[in-house]
Amino acid sequence: MSPYLRKNITALKGYAPGEQPQNDDIIKLNTNENPYPPSPRVLKALRKATAYGVRPDNVLAGNGSDELLSILVRCFVGRGDRAAYPVPTYTLYDTLIDIQEGERAVISYLPDFSLPEALFSQQAALTFVCNPNSPSGTLVPLPEIERLARSVTGVLVVDEAYIDFAEEDGVSALPLIRDFSNLVVLRSFSKSFSLAGLRIGLAFAAEGIITDMIKVKDSYNLNRLSLAAACAALQDMQWMLRNVRRIQKSRQRLTLQLRKMGFHVYPSQANFVMARREGQNLGGLYEALKRRGILVRYFDVPGLQDSLRISVGTPREVRALLRAIETTETDLSPGLP
Ligand SMILES: Cc1ncc(COP(=O)(O)O)c(C=O)c1O
Repeated sequence: MSPYLRKNITALKGYAPGEQPQNDDIIKLNTNENPYPPSPRVLKALRKATAYGVRPDNVLAGNGSDELLSILVRCFVGRGDRAAYPVPTYTLYDTLIDIQEGERAVISYLPDFSLPEALFSQQAALTFVCNPNSPSGTLVPLPEIERLARSVTGVLVVDEAYIDFAEEDGVSALPLIRDFSNLVVLRSFSKSFSLAGLRIGLAFAAEGIITDMIKVKDSYNLNRLSLAAACAALQDMQWMLRNVRRIQKSRQRLTLQLRKMGFHVYPSQANFVMARREGQNLGGLYEALKRRGILVRYFDVPGLQDSLRISVGTPREVRALLRAIETTETDLSPGLP
């Protein structure tokens, strides 16, 4: 157990599932399971699940990384406890903290989406950094994450749902879990592995934190089919990496063309870009694109109304989007040259 766990959960007994003996000479009739083994193919796939180079004690699979986020907040944020994170970012953090009646300590990113210094001294029970961040797509360099892990007083969660789309290797905080007992790194199979509907996420952390999370999660939080799919996906990393390279290429073209059209596009290391026209409400452009059958993300909240978050599609989809923006803008401003 980690020293960060909420007091009531430290004291909590937790649901006790049927005993799982380690030796084979027990006749195990206590959990209503099947006495026959699963397909050998499943077992082969499971063996590959060590793909991230960590021990099983340092990983927990969840029903999407959203479930892991929810488990983490339930573990470490009680009523009135502080949870800190830079904004704008993934808005699920707000919801999860509100459910716990925690205190949100949100601090604006600097204009270039680097970490605000105030984040380092929040004395929070839990700190989130989404890296690469959504909706900006920007990436905080690893030394900054390491400095944050060293500075925070509670648990630091680095949400790496989009990290596979980063251009460079060595940007993930995953190797740092060996050095920091308060660090959790989250990965999702919903983005780079194209498995959103199957709901698979992974949490990596020191054994103490994984033990805390296991105490709070549903006993049987993952279904076999999703596990089998995740294992198969890990056995074919080349497939994922090939798609990532295609998306990186499309992202480059999309960024370049949007910049030519006068948007400020933040340097994205994710599978989406944030395109901004400072001070101009892009709600009209969002609606016009929707009418043409192209859906992008518009956040109707102060500070983001001059931006669109656009997922990187296939080259054909990117071309269609760019054409649609061009024609829409001509229609909206017929007088312009
Ligand atoms: C930053 C971030 N974290 C986590 C998630 C959740 O992913 P999953 O499908 O694994 O629950 C998302 C999904 O959009 C996301 O944008």
